[in-house]
Amino acid sequence: MKENQHNKWWHHATIYEIYPRSFCDANGDGDGDLQGIIRKASYLKTLGVDAIWLCPIFASSFMDSGYDMDDYYAINPMFGTQEDLDQLISVYHQLDMRVILDITLNHTSDRHPWFLDACASKDSAYREDYIFREGRGDGPPNNWVSSRTMRSMWTYNAATDDYYFHIYTQHQPDLNWRNPSLRQRLYDMLRYWIDRGVDGFRLDVINKIAKPDEFNDVPDGVYADALCENRTESHAFIQEMRQAVLPNDRDILLLGQTGGVTIPQAEAYTAGLDQELDLFLQFEHLDIDRGRDFNRRSWTVPQLKQAVLRWQRSEQNNTWPTVFFGSHDSGRMLSRYGDDRLRYRRRSAQMLAALQLCLGGTHIIYMGDELGVANRRHRRLDEFRDVRSRDVIQARLEQGDEASKILDDLNELARDHARYPIHWSGRGQFKGYQQSIYHFYQKLLELRRQEEALQWGQTRSILDDHSDVFAYTRTYHQQRIVLIANMSSRRIELNFQREDSTLILSNYQRKVKGILRPYEVRIYRENICSARENSF
Ligand code: GLC
Repeated sequence: MKENQHNKWWHHATIYEIYPRSFCDANGDGDGDLQGIIRKASYLKTLGVDAIWLCPIFASSFMDSGYDMDDYYAINPMFGTQEDLDQLISVYHQLDMRVILDITLNHTSDRHPWFLDACASKDSAYREDYIFREGRGDGPPNNWVSSRTMRSMWTYNAATDDYYFHIYTQHQPDLNWRNPSLRQRLYDMLRYWIDRGVDGFRLDVINKIAKPDEFNDVPDGVYADALCENRTESHAFIQEMRQAVLPNDRDILLLGQTGGVTIPQAEAYTAGLDQELDLFLQFEHLDIDRGRDFNRRSWTVPQLKQAVLRWQRSEQNNTWPTVFFGSHDSGRMLSRYGDDRLRYRRRSAQMLAALQLCLGGTHIIYMGDELGVANRRHRRLDEFRDVRSRDVIQARLEQGDEASKILDDLNELARDHARYPIHWSGRGQFKGYQQSIYHFYQKLLELRRQEEALQWGQTRSILDDHSDVFAYTRTYHQQRIVLIANMSSRRIELNFQREDSTLILSNYQRKVKGILRPYEVRIYRENICSARENSF
């Protein structure tokens, strides 16, 4: 492992993801805002995070929660003003935390002035900013259906009697990255935000910006999204963007969302340091229980382990992972991978926190996970508001799926769960700060700062096939950290006491020899000279 290549501020950072509308409402109008985020700066500093990632804060029609931008230069009035953002950046910088903005460069909204102009006439100067094609007969140019909306990727535009292309909803027309003038305008915009002080960007679906030359039909029943993912041309675009945008005197993070990447593809995006992306986001472990149309699948601990651990750095994997178990796009991690019944909520949230934060890589904590926020389950399908949930409901009802099955699936997986307002006063349910989930996160983040093995250590799975225990070691020179987590509500007999190991953190106060209690997690430190490798 070449450590010196991985010493930028983000390599050992913990980033806190904020969905601004639901985080903290300072002006009392029912929506979170930038002033609310400013108000929480010292809370986040005390938690121990190094940076915040703000989901889109730009002017938007909000059809897809801001991932449909009307104007890349204007702050959504729901969240505040440019001055609020300037103040936010300065407050966070004073506390030595960085600010990352989320930007969608794959598409704009259908209310963006470029798109409105492009739709008005074939002679528009912005026509080449988007992808228009003549229809075929009475229908769209080809048979492409998006897995995301489960509908055609083409929408008819009457004024020019043709169709525009969109991977996501019809309100999110894809930009045409082959147009150099468009690319320059996007780069200008990124430079503008860097000059205003932001420390990086989370680049939404950046692995989809390159589209095929030809829009040929795909076999029936096949979703066409994959044809727009990780295309070779996207590398040249990202390289050009990086060259054009990043200043020499500041380390600006480019964190790319690259769903569906393989390890070699992720290496291609990131391994040539300072050429394309700095970090990437992949979702293999988050897809473990979720089919494309949110059909829930059962999963096992060994499967999860495999999906998580194969993305840790190793001889076979030269990438630097970004580790997270929840986001604005998924159900709450506590409800999916833990146990949100009141009886187990605190311990299973703490177990998951430890399981995550002892892994190698850059970490992302999703807002509220440090408070044990769980899914909010619904009784009726019409209670789901998110555009994706609504698309899933409609498509699956049309396919003849039982409403009760869709409800069950969405109660686990819908994006809505991550997007409900955080109730800041509701922390009393975990009485006592010392025992709280928040405090456990604090201790884990402190540990990450102290233990070199957690920063640089080689990760190795142990107890591979155990049906309920997720365990691994992190080894660096003579130091080793061992994590053992019971992911079930069973008491498990396990003789895990190793010689010369010291228990440094656990979510139970008293140790019981030979038994792992429900959702118990233990973190040990070992000195390798004396520890026996195979004491399990
Ligand atoms: C990304 C975002 C998601 C959004 C989509 C379209 O996947 O994370 O929230 O809906 O892109 O922009």
